[in-house]
Amino acid sequence: MKKEKIFPQHIAIIMDGNGRWARKRRLPRIMGHRRGTEVAFKIVQFSVKLGIKILTLYAFSTENWKRPKEEVDFLMGLLEDYLAKHRGMFQKQNIRFQVIGNWEVLPFGIKNRLREVIEATKNNTGMVLNIALNYGGRMEIIDAVKKIVGEVRNGRIAPEEINEGLFTNFLYTRGLPDPDLLIRTAGELRVSNFLLWQISYTEFYFTKKLWPDFTPKDLQRAIRVFQKRERRFGGIKRDYEGSL
Ligand code: FPP
Repeated sequence: MKKEKIFPQHIAIIMDGNGRWARKRRLPRIMGHRRGTEVAFKIVQFSVKLGIKILTLYAFSTENWKRPKEEVDFLMGLLEDYLAKHRGMFQKQNIRFQVIGNWEVLPFGIKNRLREVIEATKNNTGMVLNIALNYGGRMEIIDAVKKIVGEVRNGRIAPEEINEGLFTNFLYTRGLPDPDLLIRTAGELRVSNFLLWQISYTEFYFTKKLWPDFTPKDLQRAIRVFQKRERRFGGIKRDYEGSL
């Protein structure tokens, strides 16, 4: 019997390698980020075409503040321009735009633009585009713990009620399924504090391609590799069940 190919519903991407892409061409790092943003735009559109339900992109981590101020300012400005430029596209493609992370502390301009796009697209029913901004997986877990402690203190939650399902509802990704597939570009084999809770059973796909060189074909390749994997979620292979 032919095995049915399962399509990943939720794909998360660590878009790494913008700086190296620029260095290889003796260009300033910001040129790599500019090109990386264009690629992100293409991949968003292609994901809609493929019918992916949720796309989560790691745009700025809680650790990225360590970069030179000019680079941080440039990245924020880039995202602001990107949002202004593509607002119409989000509506046309029925994309629901969301942000995960502690984005309330971001500079005024970008914060307002984010709010505007979140509000304008909140009733869209197509792909959810989740941008991780000032995001840290450990911080997300700590924030969830603090909120739960508050609820326990005011009597709305009994400690015995705390379980995985309840905990999940206090994460930034509340209401979304965990990623099926996590892609990281640029050859680094680590998760860099991304979606720590949510990737317990996620399949990983690493490629040496630098993010500015990543194409829709590369995304298709990652999906094909994912489809060959057997996800057991801690169980055993189905064929083995009868042969214990
Ligand atoms: C990693 O490259 C990339 C980032 C820290 C920023 C990612 C941001 C974008 C691609 C633009 C944001 C766009 C949207 C629309 C979400 P790096 O600078 O760490 O590269 P390196 O490891 O080669 O130095």
